[in-house]
Amino acid sequence: MKVSPSILTCDFAHLADGIAFVERTGADMLHLDVMDGVFVSNMSFGPPIIKCLRPLTRMTFDVHLMMKYPDRLIRDFSDAGADIINIHLECDSPIDKTIEHIRTLGKTAGLTLKPSTPAQAVFPYIDKVGLILVMTVEPGFGGQSFMQDMMPKVTAIKNEIDRRGLSVILQVDGGINADTAVIAAKAGADTAVVGSALFTSADPTALTHQIQAI
Ligand code: DX5
Ligand code: ZN
Repeated sequence: MKVSPSILTCDFAHLADGIAFVERTGADMLHLDVMDGVFVSNMSFGPPIIKCLRPLTRMTFDVHLMMKYPDRLIRDFSDAGADIINIHLECDSPIDKTIEHIRTLGKTAGLTLKPSTPAQAVFPYIDKVGLILVMTVEPGFGGQSFMQDMMPKVTAIKNEIDRRGLSVILQVDGGINADTAVIAAKAGADTAVVGSALFTSADPTALTHQIQAI
């Protein structure tokens, strides 16, 4: 699997240290959780902070927008240095238009499904995106438990990607550790977002390599 560490659980007073920490693990990309306080009941950071982080690393910025109206800030996230701009299917922006906007800016578009959203909801967009994220917790907070009952959804999306012969990153996010990553990989996921498990690990580099070897 590929590993995309989430800096949500790191010390926001020392984000540069968090990025250096992730770089040392040899992770594949960096997951940036943007929360607007409306789509989810928490707030994190937005384009100005991502812009400040951009010069610190060459890692791919995998930006997960937990926002009600992501279309309003797509250009700002693009200008700030996002590489993957990932919106929720349940947001109140027009999905087709927003994906098109992201692609026009030369970025990879992603679509995320909350736990209550069925696999079939993403099928109309599957050939227009480069990443699909199946949430394995309710979005909003780090440190929650992995929802194993999301695995049939991962498999259904994986089968549809394969049936159409597409190459789309299939990501899982929430409660991922060395054990739950194995379960998610068996279901068909190829990329793991890892937050608290990595930042509390005694050996984060070993944990990253362990998940990458799955
Ligand atoms: C949840 C976020 C996450 C999550 C990851 O809303 O999308 O990326 O916090 O953190 P852990 O691995 O702690 O669940
Ligand atoms: Zn996330």
